[in-house]
Amino acid sequence: MANRRILSGMRATNPRLHLGNYEGALRNWVEMQNDGFDMFCMVADWHGLTTMYEDSAEISRNAREVAKDYIAAGIDPEKSALFIQSHVKEHAELHLLFSMITPLGWLERTPTYKEKQQDLGTTEREPYGLLGYPVLQTADILLYKPYGVPVGRDQAPHLEIGNDIAARFNRLYGVEVFQPYKYLIPEDENRAKVPGLDADENGVLRKMSKSYDNCIYLSATPDEIAEHIKKAFTTPTKLRKTDPGVPEGCAVCQYLKLYSPDWQRQWDEDRAGERGCMQSKKELTEILVEFLRPFRERRAQFDDGSIEEILAKGAEKAREVASATMSEVRAAMGIY
Ligand code: AMP
Ligand code: TRP
Repeated sequence: MANRRILSGMRATNPRLHLGNYEGALRNWVEMQNDGFDMFCMVADWHGLTTMYEDSAEISRNAREVAKDYIAAGIDPEKSALFIQSHVKEHAELHLLFSMITPLGWLERTPTYKEKQQDLGTTEREPYGLLGYPVLQTADILLYKPYGVPVGRDQAPHLEIGNDIAARFNRLYGVEVFQPYKYLIPEDENRAKVPGLDADENGVLRKMSKSYDNCIYLSATPDEIAEHIKKAFTTPTKLRKTDPGVPEGCAVCQYLKLYSPDWQRQWDEDRAGERGCMQSKKELTEILVEFLRPFRERRAQFDDGSIEEILAKGAEKAREVASATMSEVRAAMGIY
């Protein structure tokens, strides 16, 4: 395979990444990095502005923390380019050019856009940038002409628009500047969409998300991990150890399935009323404290100064690729 380049990113709306971000996307980034892929790991600060435009300075601070979490999860800045979106201005130029050739209907139909619109309740204060979110994401991706883009399931609609814009660009300007890229989404549904620690009003598990406050953060201390798991949602009808559990609908059992080599036995005991939820919570806490230990250790090795240096080097490497693509794009469009 000639093209070994990979691009992905996360928004800087929060200073801490969670287990969902890790399982859905970061885990794949680290594995591909270690398999010798040429990784470009971006922190999307401009995308954060689509919802947090009033807190722009906070986004910049968050971006540095997200970069530390990438490293904590195993991204090696010696191997992979780690950079902040706004440090590579080519992303803005390609976004502008793509915005001219993207039909409005494609953006209005995006499920993530419709959800955000509902959350906001009114269209009056809805920024223009929110509708264009997938166009900017497409620019992020295509600048690097990647083989694939590793993300969680919720990003699939954006990736589809990206390949559609690429095809439309090639057709309009008669040059094959862009090739389609692959969607690298975990096959295991529990990883592609990791449930949170809580349930919705119908008692159904929903995805882990900072907006629901149901997360385990990668940088959590052992005490925080224990505290969060103590409050986690379990089978509501299982009040005593001897009551039968329903592991499929229990947050704690779902994590045991992800992280415990012994989950099958634990599930059987839960179902049979042979183990209590307290025991499952205790075992899960121990497993997660161990699982996240190397994350905490790697994170502690990087201070703010070294992060700035890493980001400057990463942006330089990204700019080299991005500016070459922009030259091709301008030439294809006859812009000089
Ligand atoms: P976000 O935090 O929404 O900016 O997402 C950053 C990345 O993490 C994207 O690739 C998402 O698809 C992925 N992601 C976020 N939450 C989850 C989750 N609960 N399960 C799996 N992947 C997730
Ligand atoms: N929209 C992505 C998210 O919410 C973040 C993102 C921005 C991204 N640009 C990207 C992901 C390019 C993959 C490729 O997580």
